[in-house]
Amino acid sequence: MASDMALSGKSLVSMEDLSADQIMQILSTAALMKEISEREVKKAPTLRGRTVINFFAEPSTRTRTSFEIAGKRLSADVINISASSSSLSKGETLKDMAANLQAMKPDLLVARSPHSGVPYMMSQWMTCPVINAGDGRHEHPTQSLLDLMTIQERKKDMEGLKVTILGDILNSRVARSNMIAMTKLGMIVTACGPATMLPMNISRMAHHHTTDVAEAVRGADVVMALRIQKERLEGCKFPNVREYSRYFGLTAAHMKHTASNSIVLHPGPINQGVEISPEVVEGPWSVIMNQVTNGVAVRMAALYLLLGGAQPQV
Ligand code: CP
Repeated sequence: MASDMALSGKSLVSMEDLSADQIMQILSTAALMKEISEREVKKAPTLRGRTVINFFAEPSTRTRTSFEIAGKRLSADVINISASSSSLSKGETLKDMAANLQAMKPDLLVARSPHSGVPYMMSQWMTCPVINAGDGRHEHPTQSLLDLMTIQERKKDMEGLKVTILGDILNSRVARSNMIAMTKLGMIVTACGPATMLPMNISRMAHHHTTDVAEAVRGADVVMALRIQKERLEGCKFPNVREYSRYFGLTAAHMKHTASNSIVLHPGPINQGVEISPEVVEGPWSVIMNQVTNGVAVRMAALYLLLGGAQPQV
């Protein structure tokens, strides 16, 4: 696997940081990395001697676990810290924490925060690359990369695909990263949700937007359902969950009007029966568990490429 000087040493805070070619390079590297996870002994020496710190200041199942697995499968030394178990809880500032972590000479920091901009600030205060593992409403670039990898596995050519992103677009960092990346790759993006959950500038982020789910999913190749981001809701955006589910929940009836061989993605965690029905989660369209599997491969690829891709043994 050739090293890549363009990604080596860089931080990944936003999908704006990547060109279409760099996105495709990460996806092709991830396809190679996926093979390691299919071996009986799931380990390669590629990042031996490298230290990766995972700093998660917000709950996570998929992202945190997959970054830890990704680092360990490539033989990096992986250290996990949370806000509550760090000295942030004793009043230390984020900037002081960054300086102290830097003094321990990590090779890469993975950072999740409830606040938009924290991974960017960490990337300014530290000399090692920083990967944004989700910051507030802002972005979740590695989620977008694993979504793209899952779409590419099923659809091969991504250019021209019709993608519908459905739900709480306003508060979703997954939607924001995907709208940036998907438009870069030539996909046609429709955003759909209650008017109160569509950003003011949605017409600059997606090709189409609507509040009508039936219209949004008609002919779609890919449908991505999003959870209501309760932790980031400000004020009441809809009357109640039952009404939200009735008007904006994705059902098997909707899927009958999508393109043939359409697929359904969901970044998780899922609130079944709210934004998506159990029959869609379990149905033939669902690639939701493929997304989770690909999360490990994409994060292995991101660690490998940002750390220089120096040692080719995979
Ligand atoms: N998709 C995602 O970011 O899930 P977690 O919050 O569990 O990491």
